[in-house]
Amino acid sequence: MTARLAILASGRGSNLQAILDAIAAGTLDATVVGVFSDKPEAQALQRVPEALRWARTPKACGGRDAFEAALAEALAAARPDWIVCAGYMRILSPGFVQRFAGRLLNIHPSLLPRHKGLHTHQRALDAGDSEHGASVHFVTAELDGGPVIAQARVPVLPGDDADTLAARVLAVEHPLLLQVLRLAVAGRLAERDGRVVVDGQARFTPLPLESTPA
Ligand code: GRF
Repeated sequence: MTARLAILASGRGSNLQAILDAIAAGTLDATVVGVFSDKPEAQALQRVPEALRWARTPKACGGRDAFEAALAEALAAARPDWIVCAGYMRILSPGFVQRFAGRLLNIHPSLLPRHKGLHTHQRALDAGDSEHGASVHFVTAELDGGPVIAQARVPVLPGDDADTLAARVLAVEHPLLLQVLRLAVAGRLAERDGRVVVDGQARFTPLPLESTPA
């Protein structure tokens, strides 16, 4: 059965677009049932028909808790099989994470556990890292701290700045996210006791990005 994906996004939505393109190309057996945003002006929202857009600001909802409660209700009503945070810039509360546990994925632009949080590209440069990349992980209550499912690595090259490095990472983010989503929609991915389980086997290291282009 075609899997139902809900996407949380605050910005540009290039990861969402990669998902939509893969669905259209027949390489991801899924349907996007909603795009949910804390930023009504987010470009991500424009990538789907109006009927699939949900956007509120915490301010308009009367605060962070009320916003998150409304988001959780709208998400639950969309009956997603998987919820993908793709450039969603708000921290999710432990209660929210608990409600959707095991179904909540995030793509983060670093080789976790290195560089949790913001400004990952600049921080990789400042740290003198020779390698950087992206991680897809299950969301837990700890920010960017959930079990890592898959990682894609890129070199840091002489002369890189945060923008050139971000572009190199973004190019691997899209196939990495799709690789994980293909496992997810095929029923091959689960989280058990804080571990990533693929095909019924616990993984002790993140999957690498497959070389086959998405
Ligand atoms: C990506 O780098 C993602 O890893 C991070 O935010 C960025 C979102 O990009 N969490 P986009 O909105 O999908 O284009």
